[in-house]
Amino acid sequence: MHRRMIAPGALAAATLLLAIPASAASHSPGAPGIGDPYHPYYGNGGYDVSHYDLRLKYQPATDELEGTATIEARTTQDLSSFDLDFLLDVSEVRVNGATAAYASSGQHELVITPKKPLAKDTPITVVVRYSGVPSTKSAYGFTTWHRTPDGGIAADEPEAAWWWFPSNDHPSDKATYDVSVAVPDGTQAISNGTLQSTGSQLGWTRYNWRQNKPQATYLATLAIGKFDITTNTSEGGVPVLNAYSRDLGDNAGAARASVERTGEIVDWLSGFFGPYPFGSAGGYVPNTTTGYALETQTRAYYSPKQFAGGSNTSVVVHELAHQWYGDSVSLKGWKDIWINEGFARYAQWLWSEHEGEGTAQELADWVYASHPAGDPFWTVAPGDPGPDDQFDIAVYDRGALAVQALRNEIGHKAFFALLKGWPQKHAYGNASVADFRKYAEQVSGKPLAALFDTWLFQPAKPAAPAARAASLTKASAPTAPPRSWKKIEATNDVHTR
Ligand code: TRP
Ligand code: ZN
Repeated sequence: MHRRMIAPGALAAATLLLAIPASAASHSPGAPGIGDPYHPYYGNGGYDVSHYDLRLKYQPATDELEGTATIEARTTQDLSSFDLDFLLDVSEVRVNGATAAYASSGQHELVITPKKPLAKDTPITVVVRYSGVPSTKSAYGFTTWHRTPDGGIAADEPEAAWWWFPSNDHPSDKATYDVSVAVPDGTQAISNGTLQSTGSQLGWTRYNWRQNKPQATYLATLAIGKFDITTNTSEGGVPVLNAYSRDLGDNAGAARASVERTGEIVDWLSGFFGPYPFGSAGGYVPNTTTGYALETQTRAYYSPKQFAGGSNTSVVVHELAHQWYGDSVSLKGWKDIWINEGFARYAQWLWSEHEGEGTAQELADWVYASHPAGDPFWTVAPGDPGPDDQFDIAVYDRGALAVQALRNEIGHKAFFALLKGWPQKHAYGNASVADFRKYAEQVSGKPLAALFDTWLFQPAKPAAPAARAASLTKASAPTAPPRSWKKIEATNDVHTR
């Protein structure tokens, strides 16, 4: 509450305002989706979140999660009601301290109707008390909550939050986080950012994590299980915290050999992308059977399967590259996915070159040569792949090929200036493919509409660029991939067509 001095002349008007009934016609429900054509019900309309405070308790034996979410937001329209995206069972909702009505609707909407309508452009505090067994909840017929022998994990894309906290679930509404999780003594809870403190009481240990930089909802992660935690600081001064399930079996050695190089790789990537954008770096490897990795902010998720063939630094490079391309600079809409995956894949190509396992150009030539013109690979346009092909292999490989084509077009100097300038220009914000093209044109001084159209938007194999046509003819085209190829492709082995 705050008091305001009212000038005597304004008193009559103020009284009048108070007389207007609560159901004023200007107030309307917030939209059930934020307006992303790929995912019409993801996110919501009418407000913008600045902070999530999650105070949770999880019991691995039964997969029961309970807690309270306190959400600080600001209205962006006059609201009679608004939605959060959420699947667990709600027992109470308060808006600005007063109990509010709530009901679930659609696949994952929690519709909240406050006692009094909310005026546009005012701060609101929403408290949601809830509990539930995440693995039993589904929307659109699936669950992304992964139960493990000793706990559970929320790490998925483009949706993971519904199973553990109510949110405005879209990357365009980023917020800071406090995540506090109580687990039975001997079990650990891993999340994003820095571990502020831990405390033990009556058989439960509470882990208090803080993410003090804006974070997209799908990049918030929670992993509960029995983990060994390691910490160190990179030569460049970035604090690193990694966690390994104690139950990784044969993959334990390779997982550590790879993920323990996080600090070194963060420093190496800083040479291309500029200063690391967050106060902590690291990853975790839980005992799960799913096969992918994910760039969860400051604390990447790795499946043990990534390390089944031995150590794999390429996947670590991919997830760490996303910290700049995807996490600090997030997508405006899911159609902009190329900025995430094309550049994270390209970072793997740069790492391959650094390791002497094939240059970026050789990898680009291999992508180009290994997919003939009739291959459906070329029908996916990385610049706007559509919701079904959002994570198609073409978004990665054709996407990185497009990055190489851009490099060849604008020259190394402009290209590396662009690679480093972009994460600075949009640090902690959101940007689109169109924004990227404009910035690339500005940095290079070249018009790039045709290049972007050919390599990112046409559903067809581009003609070989003149400069490389000779080396890409049938006779001299590469017949075997560069040495790094298999490891690079293993990064997204669950996303093949
Ligand atoms: N962004 C992830 C990566 O490239 C890949 C990914 C896409 C993913 N969809 C996913 C991971 C769903 C987990 C779940 O690293
Ligand atoms: Zn990726």
